[in-house]
Amino acid sequence: MLKLLTPLRILLIFCLFIPYKSFPQETNIEEKITNLVSKMTLKEKVGQLSQFAATMNPSLEMIKSGDVGSILSIKDVNSINRFQKTAVEQSRLGIPLIFGYDVIHGYKTTFPVPLASASSWDTSLIKESARIAAMEASLEGIKWTFAPMVDICRDPRWGRIVEGAGEDPFLGSAIGGALVRGFQGDSLNDLLSLAACSKHYVAYGAAEAGREYNTTDISERTLREIYLPPHNAAVDAGAATVMSAFNSLNGIPASANYYTLTEILRNEWGFNGFVVSDWNSVGQLVNHCVAADKIEAAFKGFTAGVDMDMIGDTVEGDIYPLNLPLLVEEGKIPVSRIDESVRRILRIKFKLGLFDHPYTDTVKIKSLMFSQEKRDSTALKLAEESIVLMKNNSGILPLSKELKSIAVIGPLSDDKANLLGPWAVMTESGRVISVLNGINEKFSSTIKINYAKGCDIEGDDTSGFGEAVQAAVNSEVVIFVAGESSSMSGEAGSRTNLNLPGVQELLLKRIYSTGKPVVLVLMNGRPLTINWENENINAILECWFLGDQSGKAIANILTGDYNPSGKLTITFPRSVGQIPIYYNHLNTGRPAIEPGRYISKYLDSPNSPLFPFGFGLSYTTFKFENLNIQKQKQGKQDINVVSVQITNSGTVPGTEIAQLYLHKISSNVSRPVKELKGFRRIFLNPGETKKVYFSITPDLLESYNSDMIKTIEPGKYDVMIGGSSEDVVNGSFEIVN
Ligand code: BGC
Repeated sequence: MLKLLTPLRILLIFCLFIPYKSFPQETNIEEKITNLVSKMTLKEKVGQLSQFAATMNPSLEMIKSGDVGSILSIKDVNSINRFQKTAVEQSRLGIPLIFGYDVIHGYKTTFPVPLASASSWDTSLIKESARIAAMEASLEGIKWTFAPMVDICRDPRWGRIVEGAGEDPFLGSAIGGALVRGFQGDSLNDLLSLAACSKHYVAYGAAEAGREYNTTDISERTLREIYLPPHNAAVDAGAATVMSAFNSLNGIPASANYYTLTEILRNEWGFNGFVVSDWNSVGQLVNHCVAADKIEAAFKGFTAGVDMDMIGDTVEGDIYPLNLPLLVEEGKIPVSRIDESVRRILRIKFKLGLFDHPYTDTVKIKSLMFSQEKRDSTALKLAEESIVLMKNNSGILPLSKELKSIAVIGPLSDDKANLLGPWAVMTESGRVISVLNGINEKFSSTIKINYAKGCDIEGDDTSGFGEAVQAAVNSEVVIFVAGESSSMSGEAGSRTNLNLPGVQELLLKRIYSTGKPVVLVLMNGRPLTINWENENINAILECWFLGDQSGKAIANILTGDYNPSGKLTITFPRSVGQIPIYYNHLNTGRPAIEPGRYISKYLDSPNSPLFPFGFGLSYTTFKFENLNIQKQKQGKQDINVVSVQITNSGTVPGTEIAQLYLHKISSNVSRPVKELKGFRRIFLNPGETKKVYFSITPDLLESYNSDMIKTIEPGKYDVMIGGSSEDVVNGSFEIVN
């Protein structure tokens, strides 16, 4: 008998006695999926692949029949629980629905827009903001967010630039990964976690001429080096889902692109979540002229790799539900391929714990959430860190403690809606702090505040100018709050003129002519062309859209209670004619380093931007010196360590963001003049010096060679470290074979 007990048999007997649940979770889920899929009809399978919008009023009957896999944009927990109850208790197989929502920069507590929070370069605080957003959305029954948006963008005409982290793939990857980790927490199964969605896959941010939904045409190198890395980072961070974009990429729409959706995403990166289309982007394959009709659109989108169709058709949702069954019946799509996509969706539903706890337990979730106080303080801190001080002539900021009067002027001064930015539909308006509120709270007991709106954001009405000029005349200093409305950026928010809209600049000129010192507080979703302002106004604060704590954060900066530390993650052009303009460009054969005509330059404008990537001032000054490179020569797989000394050479404490850039001097292909490869926030008291270290690991040295193979090339590398892409200390090292 004993002889019969071979090790294998012993293991088998042992396994029989292990309780079902203590098998590794993954295996357990796969078995459950197999079991469930084996019971599903084709119609039920296609139901799982179909997402409906709340506005389409999916009926309870459809849910009962298993025709709906997901619903997006329902805003209240009772409706969500009602729909879920129908799916779980009245559909044949009881498969729960997954409820999605655009939780982009907060849910009820509204954080700065992504382009703003990126300026903090503070990935742990950004992660915390996503965690809080996930908690608040979970409380409403939402289990899936369509975020992070990781589109790199080099064109501020494109309105959706506001939704991403800016122009750099390294920073964009770090922030994208942090957001995924924040939304998803340690486990998707956590009651406070949301499934994340890396969007918009891919290269949507390269829309030609910055025009929304437009074509993108970029090289394989640019795709792989600039646009893909943040998606790859989001997938590596565990993003449960990916959204296929609206744009066509090199002639093939992103939502019908087998190369990007299957070869790269699945085969190269090993993504095992599911892909959802953007809003009817599969149906729009007909408009892209790659599908003759909806059935061909369904075929192309599905076989390229779009598992779930968002909306299907803006009216009836009929792209996947009507056409996939026909395509299976005609033998064009095997059922096994449908099963594969169904499995991907069920896998995420299982991982989210939707089968175990389909309903939202608000009491339990509330007990686990951070307090409102903690959520507000995170929002305030992130808002403060997001502000970029662009100019501060003769130290006008922080405002003198001796002031007796301040004018607060401009259309955004007392505004509580626009300062939230796009995608802020759940904010409780009573909690929003406008700039005027913030200033009143901070100063009004000691200082006279003279407020005048002056003009609207858009339009040509100048009737308020007189009152505004009078407010300026009656005050010692003017805070002028100007910029864009929240709908001027975001989806379908492309612009060709990037000056301050309406008559705001005209009003600013009138105020300037009073001779009073002016602080320009900007709120906008993209870089603006603010040449006159930069030449004439004493101080400029780029505040983007800072969310519900805007006024408090701005007041803290004005008084110096918080010393600005934000750095731009996007280049500010001087004019629209310079676009696309970005720091990590190639050198060209005739770089404009010496005067002359036949060099790469404009006749009517400098090449340089108005404000470069990585730029941002402080109320103190920082000195970078003593760049040290551990190894002057190294092997390809070695880790090199570079360090620099940073000193706070001013008089107040402050935080500097040290940025590491590398440049390969001579290479198999042209390499950018510099590429960000590291960054660190460093707090320093006046007179304090700290040594900051960066490890240069082999992955930071890899680039695609002329055969598009990732390699580390031998030769000399420039090392640059500084507080801006344009202000660095230099060194170099060499890689030997
Ligand atoms: C946007 C997506 C968004 C989706 C759902 C689309 O129009 O492009 O970013 O997630 O709508 O609201």
